[in-house]
Amino acid sequence: GQHILSVEQFSLADINTLFTTAEKLELVAKGVVTTKILDGAILANLFFEASTRTRMSFHSAFARLGGDICDTTGFSFSSISKGESLADTAQVISEYADVIVMRHPEQGAVADFAQHATVPVINGGDGPGEHPTQALLDLYTITRHFNQTNQPVDGATIALSGDLKHGRTVHSLAKLLARYQQITFHFIAPDSLQMPPAIIDWLAAKGHRVHCFPRPEQGLPDADVIYCTRIQKERFNAEQLDATPDESQLFSINQTIINRYAKPSAIILHPLPRDSRDGAFDLSTDLDADPRLQIFTQAANGIPVRMALFVHCLGLQDLVGHDFAPAPW
Ligand code: CP
Repeated sequence: GQHILSVEQFSLADINTLFTTAEKLELVAKGVVTTKILDGAILANLFFEASTRTRMSFHSAFARLGGDICDTTGFSFSSISKGESLADTAQVISEYADVIVMRHPEQGAVADFAQHATVPVINGGDGPGEHPTQALLDLYTITRHFNQTNQPVDGATIALSGDLKHGRTVHSLAKLLARYQQITFHFIAPDSLQMPPAIIDWLAAKGHRVHCFPRPEQGLPDADVIYCTRIQKERFNAEQLDATPDESQLFSINQTIINRYAKPSAIILHPLPRDSRDGAFDLSTDLDADPRLQIFTQAANGIPVRMALFVHCLGLQDLVGHDFAPAPW
């Protein structure tokens, strides 16, 4: 099987095939029908960094397909805390499981681990690097919305806001959207949290339009998708050279700003978690009743998309649907 480490490994044809499988698995994801396609298979779910959605939706996706899961969360529950290397860990766990999902705080650590694994490894987020499965579920949410409204992804305007420097999700999503034609990207962030120049240059070289804005007032008009992110304060100290942004430059996306500047047809996404603490600069809860807010549909889409990734990693796509049965509960 193939590792899933970066969105760069997916062609548009791969994405379409994956999403077709995800759609077939929608009712399994919701627990309406059951399948045993992964009966006897074992997932090792290794999370060395906090997670709610990624860890639990990978677990739920594998269990819904009939497989079993063994997991470890945090360094203290793994023998890495005794000095064991990622390389040894990878070789050992390859004998215990048929597929491994891993999240790690260091960029590149999941790829290093995968070099020593003999079963497929899926990147569940590597520091500020990539979060390919999040970007795939984000794109799944976007394409389903666009299909319902008869709108092509080609030519769309996508606004990404918040901490674009440290947000691995936005790095992966921008690269994935670059598979389409003539996307206009609006990157809305204070200068100190803007999208890395290497990604901006890469997108521009592929023929996409890229505009950077410090404020949402400038970047929200015309956007078909508004993708908000959390300020990742936990990553500020990790980089000695990183300047903590001046709070006067930070902003929240709230109902007032959306009503004033966003298109009525725009959808509002966020990979979550959003920071609900007082004074946080994020996506405001005052938008929760706005039908344009699709953050919980987006989070739920993690299940069918991650199921489809397991099916493709393990080469089982031809078996999908053969044993579907109504759920007895
Ligand atoms: N979106 C996301 O990756 O959430 P978790 O950190 O809770 O997994």
